[in-house]
Amino acid sequence: MDVRCTGLTGSELYAAHAARYVEMIRKKQVYLDYERPMIRELARDISGKDVLDMGCGPGAHLPWLTEKAALVTAVDASEEFLQIVRRDYPRVETTRIDLNDGLSPLQSERFDLVISSLVLHYVNDWYTLLEEVHRVLRPGGRFVISTHHPFHPYAVRSVANYLTISVVDDRFGPPGQEVDVRYYHRPIAEVLNPFLRAHFAIERIEEPPFENEPLFLFLAARRL
Ligand SMILES: C[S@@+](CC[C@H](N)C(=O)[O-])C[C@H]1O[C@@H](n2cnc3c(N)ncnc32)[C@H](O)[C@@H]1O
Repeated sequence: MDVRCTGLTGSELYAAHAARYVEMIRKKQVYLDYERPMIRELARDISGKDVLDMGCGPGAHLPWLTEKAALVTAVDASEEFLQIVRRDYPRVETTRIDLNDGLSPLQSERFDLVISSLVLHYVNDWYTLLEEVHRVLRPGGRFVISTHHPFHPYAVRSVANYLTISVVDDRFGPPGQEVDVRYYHRPIAEVLNPFLRAHFAIERIEEPPFENEPLFLFLAARRL
């Protein structure tokens, strides 16, 4: 498959490059020292909790989730990643879900915590998805995310108008091995309003610098 000129959506991109992504997240400081620890900190104590990893990929967050949580469910659009999760974490329940279609296979009020790590920038309509996350969380349950910061260096380079939700067609990867990818830029109001409209209380927002850039935005919210 020639992926160089396709402008792949997030799910297509990772399906086509599952092995490369697995390799990358094992080594890169941006994951190991920056993204993973912040999600874990925002998730707080997960002992005995029922947790959903929404857009789990190959399961980077599953080691610490499965260590303490009562039950872990992992969903993703990529069958390649779900196969890796089933192989490495046989006790994790997996379901293939395209988040653009909501979370309908999942029961209402099933989870105490939903995490979604580096996934939401691939989703256009956050309003509908946030309503679905609200539905599957128990009252008081929490939602923790990381997503591209609106001033992510890629977006700053490619987005004509900060103020509108816009498609970004970009290239990731080292020289000679780049892959085309499509994701969404959204201004900060379009990050926060879907949470507020779906009846979440925002508990914490973090924008830690990575190499002096605001790379990812982290947010923890509680279902009202
Ligand atoms: C950057 S990876 C993050 C994976 C994992 N959460 C991590 O932190 O390593 C993005 C993930 O989002 C998934 N994804 C992208 N678009 C999706 C969609 N519409 N529905 C479900 N999953 C999607 C991809 O398959 C991929 O696993």
